[in-house]
Amino acid sequence: MRILVGLLVLGLVATQADAQTAVGKPDDLIAGRQAGMSLQSALAATMKRTVDAKGDAKPFKDGADAISKFAKAIPGLFAPGTDKGLNTRALPVVWSDRAGFEQAASNLDKAAQVMATAAASGNEGEFAQAFQTTGQACAACHRTYRSR
Ligand code: HEC
Repeated sequence: MRILVGLLVLGLVATQADAQTAVGKPDDLIAGRQAGMSLQSALAATMKRTVDAKGDAKPFKDGADAISKFAKAIPGLFAPGTDKGLNTRALPVVWSDRAGFEQAASNLDKAAQVMATAAASGNEGEFAQAFQTTGQACAACHRTYRSR
């Protein structure tokens, strides 16, 4: 019985160690968050062209939803231990002011949801307004949490 319990404990420890190895690759998380940021930036550029041309906002419903989803994932992509590595531009304040950082991500989520609703209804004026607010949410976070 003792041996069995011992083996179980060993198994648990091994599983935890595996999980730690999995999250223990800061460069992968950094590459993932930079890729996500780049994707939403490319998407925003396409949205801007449409807003400027007063074009049809409807096709951006999915893109706005995707930005909202990514915004929810942002805090987890800045896990502890990913403050250094690759060529990260994340500032230490991401980890020292966690509440503020999470609020900034949540602001992006909310703005993107408003954008999705406006896109779905095909209301170009509302979409343009929500796009502005979304862009401000991006910039507000970068000002405080990203180096130039
Ligand atoms: C909650 C904070 C936050 C929000 C909101 C945010 N970003 Fe970022 N962004 C960062 C941080 C921090 C970095 C630096 C990441 C790194 O280098 O590890 C970054 C990096 C980037 C990069 C550079 C990626 C690269 O390849 O190095 C781009 C482009 C970018 N963001 C665009 C956007 C856009 C567009 C939005 C809004 C739709 C946005 N970001 C919203 C925090 C944020």
